Amino acid sequence: MIPATNQRPGPTVLFIFGGSGDLNLRKLTPALYNLFIEKYLPEQFAVVGLGRSDYSDDSFRERLLDGVKKFSRRKDGPWNEFAPCLSYMQMDASDATTYHLLSDFVDKKEQEWGERPSVLFYLAVAPQLVPGIAENLGKLDLCTDKAHVRIVVEKPFGHDLKTAQELNALLGGLFAEEQIYRIDHYLGKETVQNILALRFANSLFEPIWNRQYIESVQITAAETVGLEGRGGYYEESGALRDMIQNHLLQVMCMVATEAPISFDANEVRNKTVEVLNAIRPIDPSNAVRGQYGPGEVDGKPIPGYREEKGVDPESATETFAAVKLYVNNWRWENVPFYLRTGKVLPEKATVIAIQFKPAPHYAFPEEASKEWRANRLIIGIQPNMDIRLQFQAKRPGQTLAIDPVEMVFSYKTAYEGQEPEAYETLLLDAMTGDATLFMRADQVEAAWKVVTPIIENWDNTKPADFPNYTPGTWGPEAAMKLIENDGFHWTTK
Ligand code: BG6
Repeated sequence: MIPATNQRPGPTVLFIFGGSGDLNLRKLTPALYNLFIEKYLPEQFAVVGLGRSDYSDDSFRERLLDGVKKFSRRKDGPWNEFAPCLSYMQMDASDATTYHLLSDFVDKKEQEWGERPSVLFYLAVAPQLVPGIAENLGKLDLCTDKAHVRIVVEKPFGHDLKTAQELNALLGGLFAEEQIYRIDHYLGKETVQNILALRFANSLFEPIWNRQYIESVQITAAETVGLEGRGGYYEESGALRDMIQNHLLQVMCMVATEAPISFDANEVRNKTVEVLNAIRPIDPSNAVRGQYGPGEVDGKPIPGYREEKGVDPESATETFAAVKLYVNNWRWENVPFYLRTGKVLPEKATVIAIQFKPAPHYAFPEEASKEWRANRLIIGIQPNMDIRLQFQAKRPGQTLAIDPVEMVFSYKTAYEGQEPEAYETLLLDAMTGDATLFMRADQVEAAWKVVTPIIENWDNTKPADFPNYTPGTWGPEAAMKLIENDGFHWTTK
């Protein structure tokens, strides 16, 4: 998070491994382009796409411009002023002898700019390539400069606790922890960062943000899309690893954390690790998995998960997961947190619902309050970016009737057009060396520990009922029961 003084990063060289890949096309270059338009980038700035495909600088820029036209929040603008900072280097990342080219490039820029640049190595590559690239980078002299050289690693960060520990050990042997930026792009979302502002920049919410007033918390990340051609990756991952272990647990940490003393990166991250460490070991009966079968959405046929390319026709991989958790501390003891996520659900919605306890005594006549509902705070992460406080009001008129109403803060109306994409925030933070929104090694491992009992249980028992939900529905029946047995209902409203 850049301070309000709007300091720009100093001279920077950004190397993107996987430069010709999808992530760069869809997210990284559009994010850089928007940062450029908003004048956050330094004047001395160079991006080098690295990959095995054959591109000239010009054809690489053309490809990225296509990406900007399709995926950037701003499609028009001064592309011709931005494009010269982009270049391409064809390189086989497994060939250690080519890495000196990267140091040479940095030296050249130092001479040209008259100042040593910060260097960012962004690994936008398949997870199996990360260790090899990191090892080759670790051998470069320039990587010993802890203050100016950073490595950015995308998820998935390990496949389970053991592999995450191995990866952390490997990276930790090559780089200092403060050089390693593990991305969880949910932490870069404006609305996720705003949870801390809502809680700790106001005195109104914090006194009631605890077990005395809050009855339950729900976090939903529903997607309407299916695999989008990522069968190979998803088959190995599944909803629990793909969304809950990282994104949803991090969002939950924002909701559940104690107040940080400052916005120092380690202070904020210490607090979130405390939440993860306080999660009661999950009883696997509090986890539900689902997989979609074939169906139809809006008149369009949707193939079942097992019919997707790259997927085993008898796959046991879950495309839906719901979990009930408890945080064992004074603030949250016995308050259930329900997390759910899934593919091909009825709506795209990431929403947090804070359910407050009912008023302790209800003096109104029964007929006045047929619509009565306990207070709820709905935090819309996306696509609706809003905060809605739901409470009761007297319906105007001579009869006494109580209605649920809402007080709404909407980003759209309050901050029209000022909604930076998560990758804008994260790239800029990595350039300025602010690791607050990046995952520290212990955070990643603590999150894996939380889901380990479920992983072990699911690995050991094949789901007998897969596929168990139809596209366009809210997942398997058991997910409803998970929450309804406690007297609650899932909600995104
Ligand atoms: C990614 C997952 O990390 O997050 C995808 O791998 C998922 O499966 C995506 O679709 C969701 O991100 P967002 O920002 O669209 O909610």
